[in-house]
Amino acid sequence: MAEAPFHDRDGFIWMNGTFRPWREANLHVLTHGLHYASSVFEGERAYDGAIFKSREHSQRLHLSAKLMGFEIPYSVEELDRAKQETVNKNGNPSSYVRAIAWRGSDKLGVSTPQSTINVAIAAWPWGDYFADKMKGIKLCIAPWRRPSPDTAPCNAKAAGLYMICTLSKNAAEANGFQDALMMDWRGQVAEATGANIFFVRDGVLHTPYPDAFLNGLTRQTVIALAKQRKMEVQERAIWPTELGTFEECFLTGSAAEITPVAEIAGIKYKPGRVTEQLMADFSALVRRKNAPSTVAAPARVAKKAASAKRK
Ligand SMILES: Cc1ncc(COP(=O)(O)O)c(C=O)c1O
Repeated sequence: MAEAPFHDRDGFIWMNGTFRPWREANLHVLTHGLHYASSVFEGERAYDGAIFKSREHSQRLHLSAKLMGFEIPYSVEELDRAKQETVNKNGNPSSYVRAIAWRGSDKLGVSTPQSTINVAIAAWPWGDYFADKMKGIKLCIAPWRRPSPDTAPCNAKAAGLYMICTLSKNAAEANGFQDALMMDWRGQVAEATGANIFFVRDGVLHTPYPDAFLNGLTRQTVIALAKQRKMEVQERAIWPTELGTFEECFLTGSAAEITPVAEIAGIKYKPGRVTEQLMADFSALVRRKNAPSTVAAPARVAKKAASAKRK
């Protein structure tokens, strides 16, 4: 049976401070966020009722908004509370959680000095991001590159940066792959379209240095877990010519969790000891309620928006 479309489901969506019935969480068509991609968002998972790294995700939402020139009119603590209430109210202890903030419909033009900032939170049950994940997924090379930091604010989880991801993932799926590996503007290995990438060679983890893409919270968690296991982790520039020299490969992300990669454009990998160990450690960590923070949080930003008005 086909999955119900997202606009036609049961439940409640938190919108600007109150819960609305799911089907009534709508916007005007002349919303700035829709026309000019002035929105930032988070993708998180609740495990057994507790949102993993909720605080860090709320802090990143604030940081992304700041990079996009606006402030979220709710503090990190208020966002954490609202996300948890959304999970509880919808009655699915294991959920994907989507928080999003966007410029409203006060003005429709490229410049937006005074627009109203809106915030919404939805949560719904969601299994693995990739079907048949344990078999290992197949990636092609994306036709688009991650832009340089002076072309776009690449540390923001901003909707505009996903245009090239959607184009790349659509192209991958049309050609029988599950995802695409994106290079950065220099031609170095960057990440997949919605997840970071790791490689393993002789027991050592290698992952691109995140200077042109999101330094994922799962990426940081996996690095911390690997170090706890006394594994060597090299964050460095990785060139495509190295792809054939690695034994294992996997993706990390809140949606993807840890997903083994079986192939990149004809180069084969075998999910092995290191991937399996980290998957087991990650699974144990996320299911332990109130897990201690293993990652450094992004810098705090102002708690309340001075100029943004609540709708
Ligand atoms: C483009 C991109 N890179 C990396 C990640 C991984 O980030 P995180 O582990 O914080 O979910 C995501 C997912 O949010 C993403 O969309």
